[in-house]
Amino acid sequence: MTGLGKLLILAVSLSGLCAGAASAGEDASGLNATGQWSQINTGSAPTPPMGWNSWNAFGVAITEAKVLGSAQVIHDRGLQERGYLYINLDDGWWLKRRTSDGRMQVRVNLFPSAATGGPDGSSLRPFTDRLHQMGFKAGIYSDIGFNACSQAWSPDNPNLPEGSQAEREVGLMGHARQDISLYFKDWNFDYIKVDACGLSAYRPGNPMVANGHFRQFGPIIADAQVNRSDIGAVKALYSDVRDALRAVRPQGDFVLSLCNWGSANVRAWGKGVGSMWRTSNDIDPSWGRMLHNFDTVATRELYAGPGHWNDPDMLEIGNGVFDADHLVEARTHMSLWAIEASPLIIGTDLTRAPQSIIDILGAPEVVAVSQDRAGHQGVIAYADSEREIIVKSLSGTGEKAVVLLNRTAERTSLVLTPAHLKLAGDKPIALRDLWAQKDLGALHGLKAFDLGPHEAMLLKASGAPVLADGLYLSEAPAWINVAVDGVRVPEPDPIIHRMMDPYHLSTTSNGNHPVYAGWGGPRADATPYDQGLAIAGSPYRYGLGALANSRLQVKADGGFSQFAAKVGVDDSSRGKTAAVRFELYGDGRLLASSKPKRFGEAAQDLSVSITGVKVLELVARQLADSDGNMVVSWAEARLTK
Ligand code: GLA
Repeated sequence: MTGLGKLLILAVSLSGLCAGAASAGEDASGLNATGQWSQINTGSAPTPPMGWNSWNAFGVAITEAKVLGSAQVIHDRGLQERGYLYINLDDGWWLKRRTSDGRMQVRVNLFPSAATGGPDGSSLRPFTDRLHQMGFKAGIYSDIGFNACSQAWSPDNPNLPEGSQAEREVGLMGHARQDISLYFKDWNFDYIKVDACGLSAYRPGNPMVANGHFRQFGPIIADAQVNRSDIGAVKALYSDVRDALRAVRPQGDFVLSLCNWGSANVRAWGKGVGSMWRTSNDIDPSWGRMLHNFDTVATRELYAGPGHWNDPDMLEIGNGVFDADHLVEARTHMSLWAIEASPLIIGTDLTRAPQSIIDILGAPEVVAVSQDRAGHQGVIAYADSEREIIVKSLSGTGEKAVVLLNRTAERTSLVLTPAHLKLAGDKPIALRDLWAQKDLGALHGLKAFDLGPHEAMLLKASGAPVLADGLYLSEAPAWINVAVDGVRVPEPDPIIHRMMDPYHLSTTSNGNHPVYAGWGGPRADATPYDQGLAIAGSPYRYGLGALANSRLQVKADGGFSQFAAKVGVDDSSRGKTAAVRFELYGDGRLLASSKPKRFGEAAQDLSVSITGVKVLELVARQLADSDGNMVVSWAEARLTK
């Protein structure tokens, strides 16, 4: 080896040593500030996607005529104008994968316009051309594994993929680049929903696997057991699809919808892979299931924002207990999806929908809440198991949307105050009922509301911000990027409503257990374990709660001059022994840090000038091992001008 070579090796190992000595374990934990906003969106979904999908309406009994029928209604009856843009195929459109070249073939008896013949055999291009001519964008459906959901769950359906085992492997596994290129280049689709039964259903015990009908795979998703999924492998497979889409559509003009039902901790990593990601199992048109799905997004407010959305599944408005005989429930369902900035994908046969259902889907001031360009998800301002107040900051200064929700079948009442809205109580607050499109007068101090069974009111409140010259960070969840959540071992979220499971109605089992990882992720105005924020006996209504060893990024965009918070170990901390240091970085530079803070110690004020800073990073660094997860509070964290 040359002298220069030896020198280089010495230099490299020394620099490694120095880095290690300066920050033992820090790099590995991802806690070091990068100064770079690390939320990289997938595709283009600046506001929650709106459209229609065939599944909730038709299941696998899908036909071109049925899809175009609903599209025509959206076009003709004002819903397209409101923003319903995507017309999406779900499971059931495919015939087989051609073994000579792997090219997917369409079930042309259901999609007659796809019978193009020639060397391609069939093509969905005429179908997407038709939708594009009507001013829509077109969506297609696939699975991340070898096989799809209908093949596992609807074995008697006459429209399942046909042929040999290989021909029936219609999923993306092993064909991601080829299929994505076919769907997005040749066929010109704009949106893809990628399901995940291929990773979960084709397990050794499945009789159709045992008899050789389907190839065995994994399973690498265990739907009901958080710690039995191979999280890294699931994420890697979906990331390949994202990369294939970026290769075919380098401008990013696509939507990638991840559909692995909240499993494999997707509630935490979906934002780096998909434009939207399902947070729960399938919705159905029942009240309990709707609440269940809603709850799976309601505590994930810091994970969504323009370009990346929590998805509690498609709408059931028009179906079951959300049909024209249940307009209260239908409006509540719509209000909840709007306040949570959830995708609005209609799932009913619109050719049979009465005007009352069309009116709910198209309610202009409700849709405007969903589509507000700031993209903040609603934050829970009050909750018990029966009533909730959820507040979503809108893009206009001092403008908030608020849902008042009665989850029960009894009448109830609740009281709204300026503090819920984070609006100044000594200035006028105008309230407007967005369903009735009527002003309700002013909120003076407090206002009581009566709610009927299952009723939600959706209001807009306009007043003066409670902080005259800035805002609390918990008012701006879309400005926050959870770079590192501090979760060491995925835990299921226990506060999600456990509905009567439509697939297992009998009570012969031991019940319905929490299944979605994400418990312990950071929260707005709550701790990661859903407690109120408190440090050394002082409760704080507003702030961010997180686990120690977390790094939260805040998009300040140079618009503020001061950051301030009261920091400390939260009184609800599970761990009590370790000290935690709070560090604030601006564009990668350390601006301030706290003393090592211990359980029970009074909060420390952290106040620092951030003039010109674009990306703030809030790091809570645990300084030693602890006896349990350390919970920390950035109480009253705020930005001012
Ligand atoms: C899964 C998905 C549904 C639907 C069906 C199709 O259950 O979660 O939304 O796509 O598969 O088979």
